[in-house]
Amino acid sequence: MSATSISPQLLAINGGKPVRATLLPYGRQSLDEADIQAVVDVLRSDWLTTGPKVQEFEEAFALLVGAASAVSFSSGTAALHAAAFAAGLKAGDEAITTPMTFAATANCVLYQGATPVFADVSADTLNLDPEQITKRISAKTRAILPVDYAGHPADLRPILEVAKRSGLTVIEDACHALGAEYRGKRVGSLADMTVFSFHPVKHITTGEGGMVATNNAKFAETLRHFRNHGISTDARQRAGQWHYEMVLLGYNYRLPDVACALGLQQLQRLDVNLARRREIAAFYTTALRQIPGVVPPTVRSEVNPAWHLYPIRLDLEKLTVDRGQVFRALRAENIGVNVHYIPVHLHPYYQDRFGFRSGDYPVAEDAYERLLSLPMFHGMIRQDAEDVVAAVSKVCLAYSR
Ligand SMILES: Cc1ncc(COP(=O)(O)O)c(C=O)c1O
Repeated sequence: MSATSISPQLLAINGGKPVRATLLPYGRQSLDEADIQAVVDVLRSDWLTTGPKVQEFEEAFALLVGAASAVSFSSGTAALHAAAFAAGLKAGDEAITTPMTFAATANCVLYQGATPVFADVSADTLNLDPEQITKRISAKTRAILPVDYAGHPADLRPILEVAKRSGLTVIEDACHALGAEYRGKRVGSLADMTVFSFHPVKHITTGEGGMVATNNAKFAETLRHFRNHGISTDARQRAGQWHYEMVLLGYNYRLPDVACALGLQQLQRLDVNLARRREIAAFYTTALRQIPGVVPPTVRSEVNPAWHLYPIRLDLEKLTVDRGQVFRALRAENIGVNVHYIPVHLHPYYQDRFGFRSGDYPVAEDAYERLLSLPMFHGMIRQDAEDVVAAVSKVCLAYSR
């Protein structure tokens, strides 16, 4: 497919015919009959909430990411909160994270009464820049929360090294990165705790749901208590069926058996889903390189990304319009583009509470002006991907200088 050989067409936003008749979303779940049957089987069983599927799902998940333990939660956000608790974050502490993420990454620090400290990102991957982390470490720093933006693992080796030197806990937000590899190892096996999400646009889904993977037995124990009101069942095992003890202040963050049965079934297709996403990414990258004004995402040599998102950046110097206009024009072509993310420090809550301003994190902010996430989900067919490329080509050609 040669983008440059096409002459400009009338854009749908200007009354032309859209590339697609119906909207292609940026992400969507895929469920099959086996998934539905797995849920139905649990509905017919004795268990709706914590039953045998919880442990089965956790064990299968831990094996898959190469971690000693995995603890399930009612959402990725709950999992982040629990990890922040297990890391010992409390009032007066600081945790360093990226502004280029969903608000939940920084919010979990606030839930613990601690302060999120943002560090700017690297221009190529939009992941936390290790040099910027080093500059932000203070006597109050207790944790680092890198995010595997779009499914591209963060620069983990230098991050883990600086954490070790400074005695910090690394909580990797891998909500985009289930199945991604860093230097040949799956994320989930590398950081002190790694957090995943099973929201429907992710690589596998349980509706809502999340997981923390860890090799640290103490963290795993604390995480299990925290998601169940802080209740330890050890005493019950020692003293008889009725006795239990609350050992810390926790929450009800449990992921029910119904959801775990779905997750367990979905997990079987993770490798197929990843392969499909990688295929779509490769197709996009090859096709989009030929379109003036479009910069495909960079992949570093030491990683194999999981492609939760496919975020392009617009070379605005080559276009006559801004990102907002390209966004609206693509939506009019029925391509469900999105923007990930408005940098967290620019949200009113963060600005009002901490005094952040535009210009504080220039690399993240410059990227934000140019970012557009193209549709990316494992249920996409070849025609969907071709429609996306055709629409991006049509729009960028019409707006090229
Ligand atoms: C980077 C990141 N962290 C955390 C979350 C929160 O996950 P959940 O929606 O499962 O609560 C998301 C959600 O999409 C996310 O993208």
